[in-house]
Amino acid sequence: MNYKYINLKFKPNPLKFVIGTFYLEPAKNITFEQAANEIAAESSIGTWTAITTLTKKIKNELGASVFYLKPQENIIKIAYPVNLFERGNIPQFLSNSAGNIFSVKLIKNLKLLDVQLPPIYIKSFPGPAIGANEIKKLFKAKNRPLIGAIIKPKLGLTPDKQAEIAYYCFKNGIDIVKDDENLTNQNFNQFEKRVISCLRAQKKAEKETKEIKAYVFNITAETEEMIKRAKFVKKHGGKIIMIDVITAGFSAVQTIRKKNLGLIIHAHRAMHSAITRNPKHGISMLVLAKLLRLAGVDQLHTGTVVGKMEGGKKEVLNTNKALTCKWFGLKPVLPIASGGLHPKLVPELIKILGKNLIINFGGGLHGHPHGTACGARAARQAVDAACQGISLKKYAKTHPELKVALDHF
Ligand code: 3PG
Ligand code: 3PG
Ligand code: MG
Repeated sequence: MNYKYINLKFKPNPLKFVIGTFYLEPAKNITFEQAANEIAAESSIGTWTAITTLTKKIKNELGASVFYLKPQENIIKIAYPVNLFERGNIPQFLSNSAGNIFSVKLIKNLKLLDVQLPPIYIKSFPGPAIGANEIKKLFKAKNRPLIGAIIKPKLGLTPDKQAEIAYYCFKNGIDIVKDDENLTNQNFNQFEKRVISCLRAQKKAEKETKEIKAYVFNITAETEEMIKRAKFVKKHGGKIIMIDVITAGFSAVQTIRKKNLGLIIHAHRAMHSAITRNPKHGISMLVLAKLLRLAGVDQLHTGTVVGKMEGGKKEVLNTNKALTCKWFGLKPVLPIASGGLHPKLVPELIKILGKNLIINFGGGLHGHPHGTACGARAARQAVDAACQGISLKKYAKTHPELKVALDHF
């Protein structure tokens, strides 16, 4: 059978083609080649049958080509002519190379593992406005990770209580304190009231500690509402806004970035596992991270390896590398490790992921037997000890909050 979209002799020019690497399992009674051919057709110009409207010119200029096909590894690579893609449009990128193909019955499983993008395409996006380097400079944290605290309980506190807890974190060694992913503007904790209370706490702590502090406000909502909330944060002197980037959507993220409000965009990835977690089907976190760097988030949750969320060492390291490597002039994104972290895990975390990140503590801080202030101190002590190469056990001898945390967690 002649599969028109398979060309194993083809060597795509990386300046002119988007290259997608897929894991593929064909459906029962379908050959690997047939499924690969269908995917390349459906994700470029074709459909399930030959069509009279498809000219040779269109096929030559815009047809995708499977140029690597290894049934024994379940891997194919597809080269997409860059002109298939509208510049600066992430939803269109996904509709094209990660759209209908997941629905076709010819496949049993399909996962978009990685994408390589040509510079002409990358440069059509703004990337982060502020980026990892400027964030670290702002907090004057050159040789240590930034330390974040997530307010817990994640829902239910009043704005004033939220601010009080934030203040205890800021005062005891935490740089960044944040809303959780499902706190937006509920009746028990209204957004605008929270902004005013928490920025008051931030400014008070900055004055008293003479350190830079930032509260992260979750603006996630319908896009027009997100813009209003972001502007409200800006007007009241905030520094960081958070977007739940998967639930809000790439379009919304691009819109907020393009407003150029001078705010750091903290990207929470709640729901990503519905897309990324199955090793055989979906889209990898690596691909989502690359798209989010294009869209212009400044900080992104990528996993902890050692914490409560799924995500192995290789995956998290690859994702963090994609966020921080040189990329045709786009600024780097600061990775965030978050989920189930507590002081005891810090040395191993830093050993695996390095210091170029934000380490977030929620339960591992507010769960300290002596409360939030002691939890914040213990978290900071664990990071300081690990950065100085001192064992936690030794450091705990002169740091009682850390000692209690190590005994507890
Ligand atoms: C769609 O967008 O729904 C599909 O492209 C349908 O195309 P088909 O009728 O050729 O399958
Ligand atoms: C997050 O949003 O990353 C989590 O709220 C982390 O909370 P935890 O530290 O209590 O797991
Ligand atoms: Mg959370």
